[in-house]
Amino acid sequence: MTVEIPSQLITALRDANRIVFLTGAGVSAESGIPTFRDALTGLWERYDPEQLASADAFRRDRELVWGWYEWRRMRVLKAQPNGAHRAIVEFASKVPSVSVITQNVDDLHERAGCENVIHLHGRLDRPICFACRRPHELPTGIPEEPEGGRRLAPPRCEYCGGYVRPGVVWFGESLCESEWTAAADACRKCDVLFSVGTSSLVQPAASLPVTAARRRATVVQINLGPTSLDVLAHFNLVGPAGVILPALYDAVWGASK
Ligand code: OAD
Repeated sequence: MTVEIPSQLITALRDANRIVFLTGAGVSAESGIPTFRDALTGLWERYDPEQLASADAFRRDRELVWGWYEWRRMRVLKAQPNGAHRAIVEFASKVPSVSVITQNVDDLHERAGCENVIHLHGRLDRPICFACRRPHELPTGIPEEPEGGRRLAPPRCEYCGGYVRPGVVWFGESLCESEWTAAADACRKCDVLFSVGTSSLVQPAASLPVTAARRRATVVQINLGPTSLDVLAHFNLVGPAGVILPALYDAVWGASK
């Protein structure tokens, strides 16, 4: 695939001191992790978020919820970072300040070598107690779960005996305040904001490119297709993030490793 990179974008990246990457499920898609809203393959196309992704769902049927999240955790443990995750690390080696803000609950940015990733929606590998919210350590190793998961009793909290829940932000819950403050701050200060592989439908994450644009940052979207961000973005690069981001790096700084 040939990627056309506008020369104004190359200049903006060469001149940039602070870049933010706001990433969504599309960044991990090429690692084999399903997105949420893509037709046929998206998780919310195949599974009902009301039964799986809220505190009420967990109160109603915690074994169903825990089993489904264990299946998702297994998929992430079996996956590897892709060219998009790796290219972001390479950007960080050239630009004075790079912040990665992800909506993803996997750790593929970290495994590619990214430090200080802001996880707006939590992490699959950081479960907490449903009652006292203390962290819970999971056994090492990769669980073997069937497609879609099976009913599984969640572990109990070693401090209060409560049930352990996935460490992700569910529908109806607020984001972690410190992560949100750090994300909004980075977006207010950046010169370029990349929105990569996200449908830009979920708030408040979807408001971050607007924050950056109001402060005159250049907004670049990388996605397989159109989203509501198209009208705001200064550059819309259409195609797989794992191809476009390395091509962009090469266009600005020469061939990547
Ligand atoms: P979505 O599933 O809503 O959107 C994924 C986007 O990635 C779509 O716009 C796709 O076109 C695009 N895409 C797919 N493969 C791609 C690729 N290889 N390269 C580039 N783009 C690609 O996922 P998110 O926007 O991340 O929240 O969803 C946001 C939140 O909604 C998630 O964090 C999750 C969900 O409910 C929680 O669980 C709290």
